Amino acid sequence: MTEKKPIKRIGVLTGGGDCPGLNAVIRAVVKTAWYQHGVEVFGIEDGFTGLIEKKIVPLPPQRVSGILKQGGTILGTNNRDNPFRHPIIVNGQLTHVDVSEKVMRTIEYNDLDALVIIGGDGTLSIASELCKLGVPVVGVPKTIDNDLSATDITFGFDSALQTAVASIDKLYSTAASHHRVMVVEVMGRYAGWIALQSGLAAGADVILIPEIPYRMDVVCSEILRKEREEGKAFTIVVVAEGAKPVGGDVTVAKRIEGSYDPVRLGGVAFKIAAEIEEATCKETRAVVLGHTLRGGSPSPFDRILATRFGSAAVRFLMEGKFGQMVSLQTPKIVSVPLELAVSKPRNVPPDGEYVATARAMGAVFGDEI
Ligand code: F6P
Repeated sequence: MTEKKPIKRIGVLTGGGDCPGLNAVIRAVVKTAWYQHGVEVFGIEDGFTGLIEKKIVPLPPQRVSGILKQGGTILGTNNRDNPFRHPIIVNGQLTHVDVSEKVMRTIEYNDLDALVIIGGDGTLSIASELCKLGVPVVGVPKTIDNDLSATDITFGFDSALQTAVASIDKLYSTAASHHRVMVVEVMGRYAGWIALQSGLAAGADVILIPEIPYRMDVVCSEILRKEREEGKAFTIVVVAEGAKPVGGDVTVAKRIEGSYDPVRLGGVAFKIAAEIEEATCKETRAVVLGHTLRGGSPSPFDRILATRFGSAAVRFLMEGKFGQMVSLQTPKIVSVPLELAVSKPRNVPPDGEYVATARAMGAVFGDEI
């Protein structure tokens, strides 16, 4: 793909974990391309696997009608397949090969002049590599974790937050009626945004995030102090899946070999609940929200952001702004280089205003006596 062709056919792909709002982006790409530029859009199925295995389907405007409010992705997705490290079995052994040439052939065979690639850091890193091979690409950032530094917010986060808060709200009845400690684990990988913001919105007593390693003795003595001094007979603990004790490590649920990030976190809530029960003698239960946070219909905020992102992605392609990612820099949607977009994660600043506000509400992070 060396000579610069006018854009007549765009391919769109969703990679990495699903999240609410992916379909809204796909719809916006199709509608903007067709209605504003007379450009056809083709869906690439199952992430980069579709480019390797030539799974390309036409996406006329009628195909995306009604998908704005649908969770997941109509194209399917995949968080294992990387064209530059494609997993294959040789002599019974898992090994990885570069199949990027196959990808280039699929793009040329299907006459795709440019790609919109929607994903998190792993998917966008691959997008950046494809761009270096000469593929005109614009990336769209998605993740419920909100851990990409080059945009104010990723779509999917707001919907995940709504699900988390609604679930935590529902745990208050059991916590209060049984005078229990309820430990709720939320996703977020190595960033504590979902835990922090759902903890703030649901009025959690304890919020444990990866950015502030906790001490269990601090958490437990605070639970007992509140009961003794304030008559608080129940406790809501919100813990990020990536939270870890001071001097300790994260809780790993499993490894997915071949994935961009093979470590899957999960299960810290069970450890914490057991430790709290033992130290405080208070009945304690653990609830892991897990993938429920990725499910369901996108919130209005996410639908709008995803639509703005999808529409802007086509606009940037048509303006020849390749190798860029759409980004919200409030109030504007701007383009930022893909390489920059994936170079640095976005973490909760421990001394930031969100943490300070939660502390002002009496929330305990487990780092102070
Ligand atoms: O990045 C989104 C996310 O849901 C994380 O919060 C979580 O750690 C991970 O994906 C789970 O991945 P999988 O769907 O492969 O279990």
